Parts: sequence; structure tokens; C-alpha cells
Amino acid sequence: PGLSRREVLFGTAGVMSAFAAGGFAAGQAQASDHALIMSHLDHGIVPGTLTKDMMSFSPDGPPPVLRFKQGERTSIGVTNHLDEASVVHWHGLRIANAMDGVPYLTQYPIEAGQSFRYEFTPPDAGTFWYHPHCNTLEQMARGMTGVMIVEEAEDPGFDHDLPLNIRDFRLGGDGQFIKLFKARNAARGGTLGTVSTVNWHVDPVFELQAGSLVRLRLAVTDVTRVGAYEIAGADARVIAIDSNPLPMPLPARDVVLSPGQRADIALRVPDREEDDVSLILKRKFDQNVLARFAPRGASARRDLSELTPLAPNPVPKADLSNAEVIEFVFGWSPEGDAPQASICGTLGYTFWSINRTAWPGDVPGPLDPLARLKLGKSYVLRLRNESPNDHPIHLHGVSFQLLRSNKRKLPPLVTDTALLMSEETMDVALVADNPGDWAFHCHVIEHQKTGLAGFLRID
Ligand code: C2O
Ligand code: CU
Ligand code: CU
Repeated sequence: PGLSRREVLFGTAGVMSAFAAGGFAAGQAQASDHALIMSHLDHGIVPGTLTKDMMSFSPDGPPPVLRFKQGERTSIGVTNHLDEASVVHWHGLRIANAMDGVPYLTQYPIEAGQSFRYEFTPPDAGTFWYHPHCNTLEQMARGMTGVMIVEEAEDPGFDHDLPLNIRDFRLGGDGQFIKLFKARNAARGGTLGTVSTVNWHVDPVFELQAGSLVRLRLAVTDVTRVGAYEIAGADARVIAIDSNPLPMPLPARDVVLSPGQRADIALRVPDREEDDVSLILKRKFDQNVLARFAPRGASARRDLSELTPLAPNPVPKADLSNAEVIEFVFGWSPEGDAPQASICGTLGYTFWSINRTAWPGDVPGPLDPLARLKLGKSYVLRLRNESPNDHPIHLHGVSFQLLRSNKRKLPPLVTDTALLMSEETMDVALVADNPGDWAFHCHVIEHQKTGLAGFLRID
């Protein structure tokens, strides 16, 4: 705290040249496998009106679905056509720190008009997503959240693959954005959107071949909403959570997903056209159909048992007999306000902290990591929530395994984002196998931007 941006930049000159390597001039010869153009746009979300001042990774509509192959190198050219700085983070990918897309921690922001090339080799297969890590609340709330798929080396045998980008927008009755958040909500559960969408559509109907096997890839890219999801009207099983295959598939009922989480669901489409299937979001007091799936044509007569189980991702297993325990306390902020930052933004105040330190995310500092982990060693992170709100806790760069909780029985999931419930203490384990400074924060973006953020250093 107390360091200006300039001091931070000068203080890390050695790192700076490394940052510069990813940049490329527009029109430069080397082609990228994928291209994203950060753009402002007007787009129809609610019928009959264009929503103004949306933001996307495309000038023409929703962020494109990116598809990579497990273990294959890929490159993504990102051009910033916004009138502000931004940066792209690849949520859940265990890649080199320099490509992780966190401003000041791993690279400088991509200024308006500038470009940056990301290059990496995804080690894990599954459903992931991407989003900015700069002025994160506003850029995400206005639309910059996209789904990203890493295909398995071995084809599991689905007939179709359907990515579902699930999120809300905060729109008024006229279809235009209303205030993106309220301070009083940021200090509580966060500000909810008003219009639920799937792939930027309200209540879409997806026509699917009758009797076929479809892989639904749910990605909750909302800035706030925690919900329970269900597939009604068909045989459907959850086969992976947060990109990692489940040892045993589960019925697609009450699948709790918080912001940043994903679920892969194997759906067996009904044989008859009149048998509609729906994706339901259950909220506290009601439920809501988010999307429908309509069987069409002659039945393909497939059966869920014909699928090849997904192979586990190569995430190393922690050695619990030699794991050091590190404690993290998620709670209120000791301070009242955050300095305004001209680039990548703060909300102007802090409410939250990790280990009593409030970092408003995406801005220079803190210079000290919350913890230092030795490369190659096993750790148990003891996550203690002393607040009455739930926090989806996300760690960049490494996946962790859920061990135990003082409140409930945890499935042995491997994940990058875990919902830490009010007053819960949860132990998770990991191997610190990826060197670098890794952001560690709540994925309710208002919490992240008002202090519930920091980073871990692995070296
Ligand atoms: Cu999905 Cu640091 O974020
Ligand atoms: Cu992430
Ligand atoms: Cu939170």
C-alpha cells in the first residue's frame, strides 16, 4: 500500500521486458490461431430493443467460443478496440504465469488500441472460460465473459457439443443497463442482474437431434449469482465439474454452481419431438427456465452407456503426509477506502480482506504475496470464512482438491473455484507445481474489487 503505479513499474524493470514480449503490432506477420477483438457494441438481448454500451470480445455479438486441443500449443491474438485498457485471463487453465492475464502481476494492461498475443499449451481438457481482469466488474457486467473448450485427446463419443454461457445482465425495463452495482450490496452478497441469459439469449430453445447424446457445457460466467441447476425432462448426468471429470457421474439435479464454475452434463435427448427438456435455475424462492432443448427428427437411438468415460486431467495429487498447512481468513476489511486507480479501476472503497489485507484487485500492489509456496511441495490451504456471506474462492495457475469442511461433507473434487459458505472452514490440498505469482480471490466480482483478493507466490 502507498506505492504509486509509477514506483511499481520502475521497481520491476526486469519483469517489464518479459511483459513486452507478448505484445505485437497490428498487422504484424505472425498469425494467431485465434483472434479476439475487444469491442464496444449495441446488441439485442431483450426482444425489440438494442442494449447500448455492451462490451464483448467480438464487434459482432457475444464472445466467441474458443476451442483448443489438450496438450497442443495455441496462440490468441487479442486486439483492444475498447476505449480503455483491458487484459484477458484464461480461467482454470494451468499455464505459464506470463500468460495468465492479471495486470501488474503477470503483464501490463493492454491499452486501448494495442494488441497482445497469448501463447500456451493447455495441459487439461474440459470446459473453461475467459474474461478480463481489468476494470473487471464493468467489463464483465457489460458482456466480456466467454466460454473456452479444451478437447480431450480421446473423443468421448458425443453426437453434439453445446456450450452454454450462463449469466445475467443488469437491464432496466427499457433494455438498457442500469447501475452495475450498489455499494450496500458489495458489502453483502453482491448485486444481482435482472435478466437471465444463455449465450446472450433470453429463454432460448436449442433444437437437438432426437435420441442423440449431447454434451452440455454449462459455464456460469455471471459476476454474482450462485444457483442450483437442473436438467428436467431427460436422462442427464454430470460428468465433470470445473473441467475435472467426476469419478462417478451424478444426476443433473441441484448442481450448485457459483460464479466461475462449470459443469459438463451428458444429456440423452428424448426420442419424441413432444418431449421438451429444460435447463432450470433454482433460486431461493422460485425457479426459472433458462433454456429449452427440443428433440427434432428421427431418433438416433443412442444410449448414455455408449460414452467413453473422461480421463482424469494430469493434476498432481498432494502428498498429505508432508503437506504444510497455510491459513487464510476471509473477512471484513480493516480499511474504509481504496485509492482510485486510473487504469483497471477500483470501486473506490474496500469492504473485504484476506488475512486482514484488502487489495482491490487488478491494480498495482500489494507487493507482498499472501503466502510463499515452495515449488514442487504439497500444501493444505485452510480457508476460513468469518463473514456471513458465501464466497467462491478462486486460485489461478494450480488446481486443488477439496478435503474437508466444518459444515458439510465435501465431494473429493479437483477444482479451481470452490464455494466457501458463510462461516465455513474448508481444507483444500494442492501441489505447488506452477511457478509464479498467482491471483487468489473471490469470484463475486464486487467482493474481489473491494478487497477480497491477493496472490500466492510459488518459487
Ligand atoms: Cu476467473 Cu482471477 O479469475
Ligand atoms: Cu482464474
Ligand atoms: Cu466473495
